[in-house]
Amino acid sequence: MRILSGVQSSGRLHIGNYYGAIRQFVHLQDEGQAFFFIANYHSLTTLRDPRQAETYTREAAMAYLSLGLDPKKAVLFRQSDVREVLELYWLLGTVVPVANLERATSYKDKLAKGISADFGLFAYPVLMAADILLYSPDFVPVGKDQIQHIEFARDWAVKFNLTYVPGYDPQDPEGKEKGHAPGLLKLPAARVQEDTATVPGVDGQKMSKSYGNTIDLFGDEKELKKRIMGIKTDSTPVEAPKPTENAPLYDLLKLMLPADRFAEVDASWRAGGKGYGDYKKLLLAAFHDTFGPARQRYTELQNDPAELERILQDGAERARAEATQVLQRVRRAVGIP
Ligand code: ADP
Ligand code: TRP
Repeated sequence: MRILSGVQSSGRLHIGNYYGAIRQFVHLQDEGQAFFFIANYHSLTTLRDPRQAETYTREAAMAYLSLGLDPKKAVLFRQSDVREVLELYWLLGTVVPVANLERATSYKDKLAKGISADFGLFAYPVLMAADILLYSPDFVPVGKDQIQHIEFARDWAVKFNLTYVPGYDPQDPEGKEKGHAPGLLKLPAARVQEDTATVPGVDGQKMSKSYGNTIDLFGDEKELKKRIMGIKTDSTPVEAPKPTENAPLYDLLKLMLPADRFAEVDASWRAGGKGYGDYKKLLLAAFHDTFGPARQRYTELQNDPAELERILQDGAERARAEATQVLQRVRRAVGIP
């Protein structure tokens, strides 16, 4: 089974990103042949600073590697290292109905806000479909907000196959029944990431880089301590039982401590006798127990950019080996020598 997914690199990663997304992605490398890429062409639809574009791409790759992605198991690459994707993007685009793109949610949202959209944003779903179809995955794990994009990729693959494959039958896309030709482009299925609990930020709202309330995975120690010691708490006295509702500190302890350790904390939290400051110190320690090894690995990669580049180049080569085969067949089908 082949699994493929892409992540846009648009900023510093925080523990909400880890528990909400990265952790699940990393697990998938044990379920099949996984292809993961950093969608850095896509991020240019919002990022206009070349330094940032480069830095965020590298940081995303380092984050995945330090959090458990094993480049021997999964293929990790930068989207822009396999330029074949841009050729498929064009060829596929020749069969994409404009009406589909006009109903794409990201584009519609922008128009609804009165902002004029660029061609890049308009064409975003076509590039994403090319990302997928170039590697013939069985499954594309994504969040709910991306389902429409996967459906587009399926619809356009069908349309492409109908246009260019004589004897193609959409009812039998793999050509398993008598007489039907198999499609050139394999239809991917979305696999929706189950909804994980929302990780609260230090102020109790959803943790998000846009709210400035994050605990960053790879931030520096001083800032980390400041963030954790600054988690919003109420004025319950030390000796009194503490409330468990609207208590981000409690929720974060639950997330980061192993179940048996959390059971002890939960009991003392409800009984009273311990101050919030102590719990914050406990959370800081739990953060280090959980992410210490990843942070160490991240620092090593930061100090060894050549190693990171080697991993990405190796990934690109393995990805390209797949991509060129599909693209070659597609070129032949449309009449490009
Ligand atoms: P941000 O809100 O910081 O901009 P993104 O929108 O880039 O984060 O999210 C990237 C991924 O991380 C998404 O899959 C999203 O569901 C997940 N994620 C982000 N914040 C949280 C959170 N507070 N709790 C759970 N998952 C989150
Ligand atoms: N659009 C996706 C997101 O914002 C990122 C992405 C780009 C992607 N190309 C993809 C995801 C291909 C899955 C498959 O999260």
